[in-house]
Order: sequence, then C-alpha cells, then structure tokens
Amino acid sequence: MSRQKIAAGNWKMNLDLEEGLQLARTISHMEIPMDVNVILGIPYVYLKSALDMLLHVPRVDVAAQNCHQAESGAFTGEVSASMLESISCPYVIIGHSERRMYFGEDSKILAEKVDKALEHDLRVIFCCGESLQTRKAGEQNSYVTQQLKESLSHLSQKQMKSIIIAYEPIWAIGTGETASPEQAQEMHLEIRNHLRESFGDEVADQMEILYGGSVKAANAKSIFGQDDVDGGLVGGASLDAEQFQTIIKSFS
Ligand code: PGA
Repeated sequence: MSRQKIAAGNWKMNLDLEEGLQLARTISHMEIPMDVNVILGIPYVYLKSALDMLLHVPRVDVAAQNCHQAESGAFTGEVSASMLESISCPYVIIGHSERRMYFGEDSKILAEKVDKALEHDLRVIFCCGESLQTRKAGEQNSYVTQQLKESLSHLSQKQMKSIIIAYEPIWAIGTGETASPEQAQEMHLEIRNHLRESFGDEVADQMEILYGGSVKAANAKSIFGQDDVDGGLVGGASLDAEQFQTIIKSFS
C-alpha cells in the first residue's frame, strides 16, 4: 500500500505578504519529485493570494494553520472552516502544540475543530506529541495515543481518509533538538498500530504520518527513510527556500 510522501511547511507567524509570496513563488519554481506533495502552512492574511499563485502548480498545496470549531458567529478575530472552504483552501493544520499550549485548545475543542473542518471538505493535518517531562517519564506512547483517541476516535473509517497525522514531540519543536530516526520510527509505528486497532488495516496502511520537530536539510533524509515516516511538518527550515528544497528531495 503506497502512501503519499509529504513535505509540509509550517510558516507559523512569520513573513509579511511580500516575503511570503516571494517564498511561495520560489517554491513554485522548484523541481518537485513526482511522488512528493508539498503543503505550505500559510498565515490567513495571504492564504488566498498564495492559493491563486499556486493554482496551476502541480504538487504544491496550501494549508491554513488553524480554524475555529463553530460554523459562524460572534467570535471576533477567528476564521471558520467554511471561510477556508470558500477560498478553496484544501488543508488545515489542527492541534499544533502551540495552539494547545498558548491558546488552551484541549482535546474536546480539537475534536470539534476536526469535525467542522471535515464538514467543509478540508483535509486535516492533525498534530500530536508529548512534552519532555512525559518522555522522560517514559509515558510518550500512551500519551500520544490518548491524544489521538480523544480527538479522532469518533470518526468513521471514511472520515479518517481525510486525516494526516503529524507527530511533533514538543521538546523537538524549534529547539534544534530532533528526535532520532529510531525514536521517530518507534512512535510512528505505535501510532500506526493504534490506528490499526481502532480503524482497521486499510486506514492504518493508508494514513500518512509526518514527523515534525527541528527537521532540517541535514537530518531529513535519515528521518524520512524510516518505514513509518511519510514525510515532515517543517517549521523554521521551511522559511529558507534552499533548505526546504533539500528537504523536499530527501525522500528515497
Ligand atoms: P520546527 O517546527 O521545525 O521549527 O521545529 C515544527 C513545527 O512546529 O511544526
């Protein structure tokens, strides 16, 4: 069963309009291997401009970095899944650890966000991952599978086909410290086994599981080379066109 290879960038709250569109333009001219899909997690304000620019560029898609769980209403400053659908945004990142940590998004809210996103035909990149404390206590496997249970277990097998999982250990995000390829593989296999138990072989075998946390040009190949790692969700290094290009080409 072949899964899509994915190099996803998460620009977070970086770059202004001109810088962002320049980076998107540079990526649009890159040589992207036929079997790789690039997804750019772009700030809301220039999501539509980037979408227009990349409309006819094969294998490069965009993602919003978040959406609200309500359909619409009095939520000043928020962006809904239906708004994203209305600009034909194909993907949304949900449950990033920064959203969980700084914006109080718990598993219940994230489950609602996932439901709302799927209702509006968005594909979801769902993030999970443990803190350093949890890893030190050796509880990372149960912690991460619990996160998945709490926000995804209510979905049908069909709905699960619109989900991509990103395993992002919090201790590796933006710290320069990366999980070793073996640590990544171990967790990805754990996640896949959990999916197999909960949703069956087809979902488990088809679901892309990305690794995130200080992925760089220098370490992408060894991480992407692991059996259950289908690509990466890349923060800092995705802002650097040259590094990101190397990452895109790091699949064997
Ligand atoms: P990083 O961020 O690559 O800068 O560690 C990854 C992420 O948070 O998605």
